[in-house]
Amino acid sequence: MKPEQERLEKAKRNAALEAVKHVKTNFVVGLGSGSTAAYAIEEIGNKIKREGLRVLGVPTSHQAFTLAVEHEIPITTFEKHHQIDLTIDGADQIDDELNLIKGMGGALTREKIVASVSKSLVIVAEESKKVKILGQNNHPLPIEVLPFAAPILMHKISGIGGKPVLREGTKKVGPVITDNGNFIIDASFGSIPQPAELELKLKGITGVVETGLFIEMADVVYLGKPDSTERIERKK
Ligand code: 5RP
Repeated sequence: MKPEQERLEKAKRNAALEAVKHVKTNFVVGLGSGSTAAYAIEEIGNKIKREGLRVLGVPTSHQAFTLAVEHEIPITTFEKHHQIDLTIDGADQIDDELNLIKGMGGALTREKIVASVSKSLVIVAEESKKVKILGQNNHPLPIEVLPFAAPILMHKISGIGGKPVLREGTKKVGPVITDNGNFIIDASFGSIPQPAELELKLKGITGVVETGLFIEMADVVYLGKPDSTERIERKK
């Protein structure tokens, strides 16, 4: 691994290790998706083996599910548990109010459902994910959509000022299919100073399944650096 990549991975791991300190025995834990959340899943598995930690996991994606199985974290479902004690998940951008853009890994809908029933949402990310305003640097907002409606939604998203791109597979021809069988539209809106307004507009369009805007959901963010971690709490 190149030194720069090594520093990045260390930063992600540092954030994840801090977040896992929130996990207590008998917790139902939401297991986030992406490369940073993966370190948290691994560490929860280590604690189960090393310290006899007893938890049940609710994976937010197929990736999180397979990691949970690999690290021997017992799984539960919404049939058995309607509330989650703590979810640890990653993010693509984090603003000053701890609003988030999520979904570059395509798992935003399940991640948001799990976050919505979590008593506490702890976000883990390396420090470059922190921005002043969401959408900064033209970062796209992932939007999960019903395939049938996708062409109309591309048009409607343009109508409200977005630049939509249908997410294409890399090792598959055609669009990416989410764990829910849907498409993802990545839409650039430029800076998003009023994310709640944009969320309302987007959720008002029939055919939109979910957006990657997580507004006032994160309680704590751990921003990992190669040699330390910064903790930020949301002001309530
Ligand atoms: C997946 C997500 C991820 O949590 C987000 O993309 C961050 O991933 P990574 O930690 O690999 O940068 O929202 O839908």
